Amino acid sequence: MSSVNTTIQLITREQAEAAQSHIPGQPGRAQESCDEDLAQGPWEFDLAEALAGTPGYGPGASNEDTAPASTPVQGQLPQEYKDASDAELEGRIRAAKAVLGERVVVLGHFYQRDEVVAFADFVGDSFQLANAAKNRSEAEAIVFCGVHFMAETADMLSGSHQSVILPNLAAGCSMADMADLPSVEACWAELEALYGTEPDAEGRVPVIPVTYMNSSAALKAFCGERGGIVCTSSNASTVLDWAFERGQRVLFFPDQHLGRNTAKAMGIPLEAMPLWNPRLPLGGNSQQVMEAAKVVLWQGFCSVHKRFTVAQIEKARADFPGLRVIVHPECPMEVVDAADEAGSTDYILKAIQGAPDGTTFAIGTEINMVNRLAAQYPQHTIFCLDPVICPCSTMYRIHPGYLAWVLEGLVAGEVRNQITVPETTAVNARIALERMLAAKPRSAARA
Ligand code: 13P
Ligand code: SF4
Repeated sequence: MSSVNTTIQLITREQAEAAQSHIPGQPGRAQESCDEDLAQGPWEFDLAEALAGTPGYGPGASNEDTAPASTPVQGQLPQEYKDASDAELEGRIRAAKAVLGERVVVLGHFYQRDEVVAFADFVGDSFQLANAAKNRSEAEAIVFCGVHFMAETADMLSGSHQSVILPNLAAGCSMADMADLPSVEACWAELEALYGTEPDAEGRVPVIPVTYMNSSAALKAFCGERGGIVCTSSNASTVLDWAFERGQRVLFFPDQHLGRNTAKAMGIPLEAMPLWNPRLPLGGNSQQVMEAAKVVLWQGFCSVHKRFTVAQIEKARADFPGLRVIVHPECPMEVVDAADEAGSTDYILKAIQGAPDGTTFAIGTEINMVNRLAAQYPQHTIFCLDPVICPCSTMYRIHPGYLAWVLEGLVAGEVRNQITVPETTAVNARIALERMLAAKPRSAARA
């Protein structure tokens, strides 16, 4: 199977040819992409952003989200990298890595392009990559092929002798940007006014803040300072158990869907999970609703996982009897309920690895990962629930051109695009991260 990038290039070429020959539509074409601009180099968006003076997420599944003014804007990539062919970039990356040897480690998230994953020394989900960053102390530089919050986490967990590099600074996460420190602080002040600050008879404080890994270092620090914790999609229920041992309720941000899906699976009723709109007093809820709350859900979401629908699942089941549907817990609750299973990216990988040959899977997560799984496990039939090719636009900002540029910078003794979290923030964020790394699932804690 060809890479997502190759498929997008093909679709775009076909569209252009059809337009030139005045063919209205192409009934024979099997696939479409959500934005023809995806076929361009990511530097086209860096240029547009630099000219407009505003940051943006670029084409793809986070296209319609608004990037906050504080979003980093990537400077221009030197022309030689933009002009280089795929083969040339591949050769340059390989050569730079060979020169650097053990001095550099390249980490790649499952959602990265195949053309980037090809050079990763370790590929994983956000939890595994955080651990990988913590445990590669021999490398002077960690080149993080993922998004900004992941690189921040890597910086906080790695040693002070190491530098963490994000090849394209515009690789943010639109969901992470849906919660900012001032809005969360304002929410917290309202919750304190409502619930007070005194623990109950069992010593449980009124609220424990829990932030999803997909959040800024500042919000992780906010949690660390207030008895809170970080979670990822692979340990959210362990973390909620941890929080309920210490608190009467939880403020969960920024992803409402992960929070709702996890709390629901733990038996918490939907009425006890009010949604918090940061622009409204009491988050848009009545005092009565807030008093009964067990999990207050921040109104954030992932634009990639929001694309999955129950109708897609119904169609896939009708087309493929016996189908196994697995979705990521960032999908809306109805989609998780309609699927057979929900789990993190690593859960999805392990489910596929453990399935009997000949299983048919419909997967609800990012297309780069799904297509790679389909290619790696040809004994199964694996396809994405969403028929439209629509990668996470921010993950897609990491192109081999940027990877070559930062690696060749290291060869020349220059650290480009370093991500540094100020120590005043990192010290508290690390507390929340270490609590997560130490949290054990209930069964393991009892053993
Ligand atoms: P994982 O924690 O499963 O890697 O997911 C990270 C992410 O950004 C999903 O959208
Ligand atoms: Fe963020 Fe969604 Fe992209 Fe994950 S897939 S990095 S949550 S925008």
